[in-house]
Amino acid sequence: MAELRSTSGDTVDLLTGLATTRAIRRYTDEPIPDDDLSAILWHASRAPSGSNRQPFRFLVLRDGPKARSAKSMLGRSFRRGWAAKQTADGYTTSVAADPTSPKARTAATMQHYVDHLEQVPVVVLVCLERYRDPNPFEGASVYPACQNLLLAARALGWGGALTMWHQAVEPELRGLLSIPDHVALSACITLGRPVGRHGPVRRRPIGDLVFDDEWANSAGWAVDPPGTRHTHWRG
Ligand SMILES: Cc1cc2nc3c(=O)[nH]c(=O)nc-3n(C[C@H](O)[C@H](O)[C@H](O)COP(=O)(O)O)c2cc1C
Repeated sequence: MAELRSTSGDTVDLLTGLATTRAIRRYTDEPIPDDDLSAILWHASRAPSGSNRQPFRFLVLRDGPKARSAKSMLGRSFRRGWAAKQTADGYTTSVAADPTSPKARTAATMQHYVDHLEQVPVVVLVCLERYRDPNPFEGASVYPACQNLLLAARALGWGGALTMWHQAVEPELRGLLSIPDHVALSACITLGRPVGRHGPVRRRPIGDLVFDDEWANSAGWAVDPPGTRHTHWRG
């Protein structure tokens, strides 16, 4: 199995990989070679699923004529998704108030991301081939594969982001790519060589997330490693 490698080519251990695999949204134009893509998807497909049914399917969009059309549909969809989020999450007003704030930097990255979707080297539509009626838990058999995919990409020096911004063009995508009705489009993952770097992800303090013995009972033993930085988001 591939050891985790940082973007500079150094290897990192699995736990470091878990703590430092960020959503990467800026990519160089470098294509992902077949071998690496194959390895990424192989490791993605090692993920667990209910009864080991492996309902996950990976529809890979690179440079083929259908892929180019799909990426252009997705570009429109992503720009729509980001425009809606920008307003809903208060980015528009925050950026106007302080163009140097972290939120403004995130907004700039997002805008660049959606404006360059057509140039993303690889887009993977992660699908779920249903064998029974849709149910609220079916995603549990596909999202572990998504995270495996992102970690494997990281291990080989690539980066990616999981999104749901395919949804606005889902009917058109289904038509273009001949996706059958019983197949759900669970996620749209973009992949490429990171322009920036992976690094420690920020989350809420572990004490907010772990309870001991009963709901909301603080788990004194659950502590962040020294130097852990947190998100400010406490919603
Ligand atoms: C279920 C799910 C849906 C997501 N949807 C989107 C999305 O539509 N667009 C996007 O840019 N990122 C999306 N993301 C990525 C998250 O924004 C990202 O994982 C989160 O902000 C943490 O970022 P970090 O891993 O870089 O710390 C999604 C992630 C998950 C797990």
